Amino acid sequence: MVELLPSILSADFAHLADQVAAAERGGGTAIHVDVMDGHFVPNITLGPPLVKSLRKATSLPLDCHLMIENPNDYIAAFADAGANWVSVHYEACTHLHRSLELIAHHGMKPGVVLNPASRVDLILDILPMVHHVLIMSVNPGFGGQEFIPFSLQKIRRLAELRQELGLAFRIEVDGGVAHDTVAQVVQAGAELLVAGNAVFGAGHPEQDARALLASAREAAGE
Ligand code: DX5
Ligand code: ZN
Repeated sequence: MVELLPSILSADFAHLADQVAAAERGGGTAIHVDVMDGHFVPNITLGPPLVKSLRKATSLPLDCHLMIENPNDYIAAFADAGANWVSVHYEACTHLHRSLELIAHHGMKPGVVLNPASRVDLILDILPMVHHVLIMSVNPGFGGQEFIPFSLQKIRRLAELRQELGLAFRIEVDGGVAHDTVAQVVQAGAELLVAGNAVFGAGHPEQDARALLASAREAAGE
């Protein structure tokens, strides 16, 4: 089942509750929250206080994508703020297994993220631990970038591995998901579709979310 996860990175932060409500009316089923620290990625966004406010504004799951160094130091704070899903980058975790355990220990759904240059096979051994795997289809840091086509092969490889191993993790894709790319992304096997610019960029989040989700479902044959 394909789902749309609007990414608030491209939303109007001064009207965040309204923007999230509109994206939810348009069919968003979880809210993607991009946390950037200015070290792991060359941009700074938001942290637990904003997640705490968002928690009061929506009942949808909050999918927190941590693009930060030393993520273990902040897991408890995100749990306290009301995060539901937390993903950490393979590239940011010296002890990835420990990070995933820590997320689960705090009652949240653990996910692992791969940058475009990191091969899917790197995470083979920890796949049984994760609720979702996030394939970055742009280099993390900014919204509105162009989709990197070889991400499709990575999504296909991950879907194959899931079947071979008999696992049930969800496959999420993030970056450049828009009208011109969504069909290929879904056909490759992704089911959690993050979209920032395509939902919020033009200022009509409800209708743009609805249209994107409709294209995704059509491509998935749903
Ligand atoms: C990029 C973020 C994405 C971003 C995607 O580092 O992880 O979640 O919001 O934005 P679009 O959909 O505009 O490519
Ligand atoms: Zn993201």
